[in-house]
Amino acid sequence: MCGIVGMVNGHPVARDLVTALGRLEYRGYDSAGLAVAGPGFDIRKVVGGIPGLMDSIGNGFAGRAGIGHTRWATHGRAELRNAHPHVWNGVAVVHNGIIENYRSLRSGMLERGETFQSETDSEVIPHLIAAARAAGAAPVEAVRGACAELQGDYAIAVLFEDAPDRVIVARQGSPVMVARGPQTAAVASDPAALASVCDDYATLEDGDLAELSTEGVTIYDSDGCLTRRRWQKVEGAEDDGRALVYGSFTRAEIAAQPEALRRTDAKLRDRVIPLHIAEAERLLLVGCGSSLHAAAAARPWLECLIGIPCDLEAASECRTREAPLSRGTVGVLVSQSGETADILAVMEMLKPRNVPLVAVVNVPHAQLARGADLSWPTEAGREQGVAATKSFTCQMLALIRFGLAMGLHRGTVTLDTMVAVERELNGVAAVCARAEKLDLQFEAIAERLVQEGEALFIGRGSAAAMAAEGALKLKELPYLRAEAYAAGELKYGAIATVHEGSPVIVCAGAGQYANRTLANAEEVRARGAYVIALVDDASAAAFAPVADELVVLPGAGLGTLFAQAVAIQLIAVHAAILLNHPVDRPRHQAKSVTVA
Ligand code: F6R
Repeated sequence: MCGIVGMVNGHPVARDLVTALGRLEYRGYDSAGLAVAGPGFDIRKVVGGIPGLMDSIGNGFAGRAGIGHTRWATHGRAELRNAHPHVWNGVAVVHNGIIENYRSLRSGMLERGETFQSETDSEVIPHLIAAARAAGAAPVEAVRGACAELQGDYAIAVLFEDAPDRVIVARQGSPVMVARGPQTAAVASDPAALASVCDDYATLEDGDLAELSTEGVTIYDSDGCLTRRRWQKVEGAEDDGRALVYGSFTRAEIAAQPEALRRTDAKLRDRVIPLHIAEAERLLLVGCGSSLHAAAAARPWLECLIGIPCDLEAASECRTREAPLSRGTVGVLVSQSGETADILAVMEMLKPRNVPLVAVVNVPHAQLARGADLSWPTEAGREQGVAATKSFTCQMLALIRFGLAMGLHRGTVTLDTMVAVERELNGVAAVCARAEKLDLQFEAIAERLVQEGEALFIGRGSAAAMAAEGALKLKELPYLRAEAYAAGELKYGAIATVHEGSPVIVCAGAGQYANRTLANAEEVRARGAYVIALVDDASAAAFAPVADELVVLPGAGLGTLFAQAVAIQLIAVHAAILLNHPVDRPRHQAKSVTVA
């Protein structure tokens, strides 16, 4: 995780660096820091967010080359001494990734009498580079030499006290982009960070090194040869204004779901599936966190539309087990960022086994999108809140569209089914907009959950996945103890946790499971639970006598699922606000989890 940035400008660089860091804050926000080359280094570090860093630089810092970092702690607590940049003998480094062999490197350095300030794995990097530089290597060569000794993943930006007009960048495993603009050469973990200063960017490949100077960006490949990478336009962060209106990016992104869903649908509606994927005999759906829940929610639809078994696995488990796969398996890898280390590891594990891969991904330049056989994009737009909201509903829609396209290709979808599913898909954007209007009810539910400090979510089929997502949202935003259970599983033990007044949120829609879910709601009610039912119009009458709070959601069938997504998102946001927690930047988290 972590976000790195570096810049060489025709004018003082510090404020542009901090602005860019602000746009990378979603990658981690435990601490932040920057170094600007002067004469000498000007360095500032803060524990906490970027606004503190901006305040601390004031109008000082005249240097025209600098590097910056926003941290998600892996090695060492969120303390000033662990904040980047790390400096040794005239070399300053910011790092995203994990250096696996740092202990052995560090002990060798300690034996040579070198000293360390931090508990981080990163601090060995400036020591290695400074040693190479002291031995006479030019900046690029010094970085290359150091990288040869590093094991693990890294994207680094390096500043030299004795070469204050340049920044050197290296990449292995962790994503990083170089960019250029009028009078500016820059690097960042995400090109959107550079929208205000750069026009175009190129993604570095593993083993690449780049030199940023006032002459521009020079890229070398892993053999040290000058190379070219594909330059693309830098897109801005389009939701900035809305966050002001809604009070947080997350809330704005919940409101933006209808348009995000329409965009995604328009993008995928006419997409054709290549033959080697359409002929799959089995799907393996993989994701992490909310992306896994989106896949779980879509799974019954995929099985029904395509008529083949669909396995579901968390990427972190899938990469560990390396389970045998049946012939004809196609991997469907679901990820907003396309950068999550666990899902990338699954991609690397499946590729040599000749498993065709579909990437359902929101960030078009991400490694997952580039590495898969078929990119099946969501068009949620940039999601700046750490919690997945619009990307989650767009993933569900994209996956169901994928199922429909597969089914049509294979002849498993009849004309009637196609018309019915098309109608449902066309309706989900409007359903989300209508669900948002029930906000006052969601706020009241949030008050109750905050008061009780806990919640149990239950559902069956796709609604079980929605229950899981509801519990995740309630954990990650208001930090409440929340659990999700497949409603039918409760009676096998977990029902013992239900006590007088304990809130149970029942996700149910009409259809084959509604009656059974209703029976489970009765069971928890009989044990004193406070039942909150999120149901559709068709099941409202049946749930009314059982529910202490009944929310009748818009939509039916597929629509109910999307309305439930909006409901659980808004409940969690309200609960976080009531508890005075930062909605966009919940504790201990980061948007792109690039560590395993
Ligand atoms: C929860 C959330 C996370 C992500 C997970 C996977 O709101 O955002 O659980 O879903 O980190 O991230 P991606 O989808 O980028 O692979």
